Amino acid sequence: MVTRRVLLAAGLTAAGGGLGGCLPGGSTAVVSPTGPQVAAAEQARRPGPERGVAIDAIESEVDLGGVIVPAWSYGGRLARPVIRLRAGEQLVATVRNRLPAETSVHWHGITLRNDADGVPHVTQEPIQAGGEFVYRFTAPAPGTYWFHPHSGLQLERGLSAPLIVDDPHEPLAYDHEWIVVLDDWLDRTPEAVYADLARTGRMMGMGEVMGTVAYAHHLVNGRLPADPDVLRARPGDRIRLRLINAGGDTAYRVALGGHRMTVTHTDGLPIRPIPADTLLIGMGERYDALITAGDGVFPLVASAEGKNGTGLALLRTGGGAPPPAGVLPAELGGLLPAYDQMKADDSVALAGRNAAQTLRTRLTGGMMRFVWGFDGRTFDHDRVDLVVSAGERVWLEIANTTMMWHPVHLHGHSFAVGDVSGPRKDTVGVFPGRTVRLLFDADNPGRWMLHCHNAYHAEAGMMTLLGYRV
Ligand code: C2O
Ligand code: CU
Repeated sequence: MVTRRVLLAAGLTAAGGGLGGCLPGGSTAVVSPTGPQVAAAEQARRPGPERGVAIDAIESEVDLGGVIVPAWSYGGRLARPVIRLRAGEQLVATVRNRLPAETSVHWHGITLRNDADGVPHVTQEPIQAGGEFVYRFTAPAPGTYWFHPHSGLQLERGLSAPLIVDDPHEPLAYDHEWIVVLDDWLDRTPEAVYADLARTGRMMGMGEVMGTVAYAHHLVNGRLPADPDVLRARPGDRIRLRLINAGGDTAYRVALGGHRMTVTHTDGLPIRPIPADTLLIGMGERYDALITAGDGVFPLVASAEGKNGTGLALLRTGGGAPPPAGVLPAELGGLLPAYDQMKADDSVALAGRNAAQTLRTRLTGGMMRFVWGFDGRTFDHDRVDLVVSAGERVWLEIANTTMMWHPVHLHGHSFAVGDVSGPRKDTVGVFPGRTVRLLFDADNPGRWMLHCHNAYHAEAGMMTLLGYRV
């Protein structure tokens, strides 16, 4: 296997280079986040009207529904605020950091300008405690996205919320929208969890392929099953679900009792609609689905895959007692579509054109030393391992050589999974021993993260960079 590697100049801040693209002799120069190519790509998006928001990252207590816990959040509530704008508009988000640590905000799934991507030491300097940063970017495509820090394990403390880009010409008809954020909740700090994982090398248990960390709670929209979020509607109403897994180390199997879903979008982009009783949603993944509401009260359940515990929300269209908090609807064992059963909608399918090159990389590591990486190396923010040229179409082949499942996320692009006609996604679950092939157009110059969305694997080094030749 040949992987192109490029060594970048040491330290962004060292040598006074800032986020520059100057390189030592002999290396391939790659586009800098502040380069003219990035500004030109943004101009090509024809930035529309501005939509201003202010977000405070704060430390406070939050109420999960009878249980008060310390949290870091955007404004004091979990899974909130919901930021909405229309496709083509520019988000102007002022982030004020009131946390006792530096932070950053990444807009997961948006094919945005590179310098607004929110990766500290790669696309920007971290936002210092007490400081602020203004993110300004055009959101080109409608869909279900979300935002979270790209700083250490902060996501695990509650910092995540939905970002919905509305379609000015929305083709779907529905009466209600239900944004459903799934999250695994610790009763200790993520740093303590990480220290435990890293300290004692150990073998993995059979059930731990999908995730290792034991969580105190599984939340839906920041609520415990004992006091769940409730969507009220009428029987026969059409409801659009926007399912987002904001967890750190838990894949969720999701079903709505008494209903079959019609899946319409993968990671924000449309697919040819297909039926499903349940969906397996890795960290960072999103699905949109339509349902037609029955008459009564129905559990929306997120079952932690390979673990004990469920998250719960309720759909109420009529009378009746709510189901018990630990209910497991039969749909959880029903029809579960796999990626290769999904096809991109014609409007977003990558038209038949050959890829210029295949980039290959391997997911490596294991539980014994809790070292995770790409091609046997851990992350270095000054090293670009994968290089593309603007305008080319690329296959990215990712082989999982480990014994765990990894949800792998590419920033700034959306790829077709498996085949030209495969579903468009930005995050793809890769099972142990399997290889996925992802096809994408290199149409967004900059330096982009490719990483595992397991918070602890990423922290241990399972992250790399893809860059564009100058
Ligand atoms: Cu949702 Cu690089 O992350
Ligand atoms: Cu992983």
